[in-house]
Amino acid sequence: MLYLLDTADLDAIRHCNEFYPLAGVTTNPSILARSGGDFWQTLLAIREIIGAEKALHVQTRGVTAQQMVQEGLLLKEKLGGEFYLKIPVCEEGLKATMELKKLGIGVTVTAVFTPAQALMAAKAGADFVAPYVNRLDSIGADGAQVVADIVEEFAVHGLPTKVLAASFKNVQQVHNCALTGCQSVTVTADILKALISHPMTDKAMAGFDADWSAAFGDKTILEL
Ligand code: E4P
Repeated sequence: MLYLLDTADLDAIRHCNEFYPLAGVTTNPSILARSGGDFWQTLLAIREIIGAEKALHVQTRGVTAQQMVQEGLLLKEKLGGEFYLKIPVCEEGLKATMELKKLGIGVTVTAVFTPAQALMAAKAGADFVAPYVNRLDSIGADGAQVVADIVEEFAVHGLPTKVLAASFKNVQQVHNCALTGCQSVTVTADILKALISHPMTDKAMAGFDADWSAAFGDKTILEL
């Protein structure tokens, strides 16, 4: 399972990159608009924080396949490293995906809501498809089931495309997706932190601390 961070908040990226086994960062136009900074400065700063080996997914704003391909080439040239152009699933997007794959540029087909969309994206050569779990759950559909169906579909057809489950609002949704065998998830910093939080863990740690202090004061093992 790869954990990616779905944000352009540099402080959050710095923190999570230091303390969690992060595989990369994903952004989209809404996330970058919310962050409010300069487009290139923000993306270059993210690359500097995560380094060249971790994945950076940036969404195209192109409407035609040609624009998407041009944006993909420019973004790859400027951001370097492990880079994926996010392309919404649509006809122009599929054409761009096929062309970008010939040019050796990574592609994540995004805004995926059905296994049929995912299969077409995979056949076009997408490296990842990103189904939106919470957006499905919030219209009464079953986001994790859609992810499970996509995972199975790719396995049945022997396709190398990976599933990057996205759009999460709680830990349970991430857990449900992890059980499907999906290869990766992208989550906010709050959800990443919530994934390791438990009041019983806090209580256990406080108990160990109190017992140790009673016996050894504030000395660490290194000081004994
Ligand atoms: C990632 O690829 C998506 O853009 C993102 O997870 C969407 O999340 P949202 O539904 O919270 O906007």
